[in-house]
Amino acid sequence: MKESFILRNVEFKNRILVASGTFGYGDEVPDLVDISKLGGIVTKSLSMKPRDGNPNPRIAETASGMLNSIGLANIGVHKFINDKLPTLKISGTIVIANIAASTVDEYCVVLELLDAQVGVHGFEINVSCPNVKEGGLSFGTDVKLVSFITKELRKRTEKPLIIKLTPNVTHISDFARACEAEGADAVSVINTVIGMSVNINTRKPKIATTTGGLSGPAIKPIALAKVYETSNAVKIPVIGIGGIASWEDAVEFFIVGASMVQIGTANFINPAKGISVAEGVKQYCKKNGLDSIDLLVKSLQTNKTISIIDSWL
Ligand code: SIN
Repeated sequence: MKESFILRNVEFKNRILVASGTFGYGDEVPDLVDISKLGGIVTKSLSMKPRDGNPNPRIAETASGMLNSIGLANIGVHKFINDKLPTLKISGTIVIANIAASTVDEYCVVLELLDAQVGVHGFEINVSCPNVKEGGLSFGTDVKLVSFITKELRKRTEKPLIIKLTPNVTHISDFARACEAEGADAVSVINTVIGMSVNINTRKPKIATTTGGLSGPAIKPIALAKVYETSNAVKIPVIGIGGIASWEDAVEFFIVGASMVQIGTANFINPAKGISVAEGVKQYCKKNGLDSIDLLVKSLQTNKTISIIDSWL
């Protein structure tokens, strides 16, 4: 059974990655998880300078989900290269560096620094964080800006370039088309959904910034619909993210059009979840006589005549 996937010039041994912000820099779990068994890891978003992020509380549990407003806290690109990358280089997994920035220039400089590193195999560009005033959603909800950022970054790397899109727009497919037109190799769909939660005793929001990004099983149906929409709008691969907590969830994402998937919030419960999801997907394919996951991707049996989404795609 063929589990691997090639994106541009990089071969992933399977289609299950761990999502940015849910697995640190990949060096915190060596005794718990053999990360060489994952398709790859996506790092916490890296910016030029270290960031402390937003004030606490910045995480709250919700029904079947989690709200976060971390605010892109990270150690900065230089410390990542010096302190984290050496361990990742010998880990036997594919490393996708996620980049966040407040300006287009910052994206470019951080990407160039990382592009020069042998152990960095590709990039995921975060234009979709809902928790910062500069960059993040203010970029990711402007299709011209997403297009411009993609174009500028494409000029600067031959490694896979993936743009991580927000669901907090009317038509995510317009953004995916813009990324494809400017040379992105794939889009990650979706980042978190804007949400909030209130403590009824204090009448205060449960997180300091009032709103945050909702993740976890609560958003899986939204993510599936966005992956379906996107994968019908572009030819480049779509990487599905949003509430995947089991191999069955991953199979659903492949069926609606994802070529790879990322496990996010579920890592906080079990950091080895990605490995069991990869094994479960493999067994499902074997049981169903599929000798490649390609046969599963976009295999949804729809009745186009009664599909609302297809009518405006
Ligand atoms: C955060 O750091 O606030 C979360 C990252 C994101 O949603 O992109």
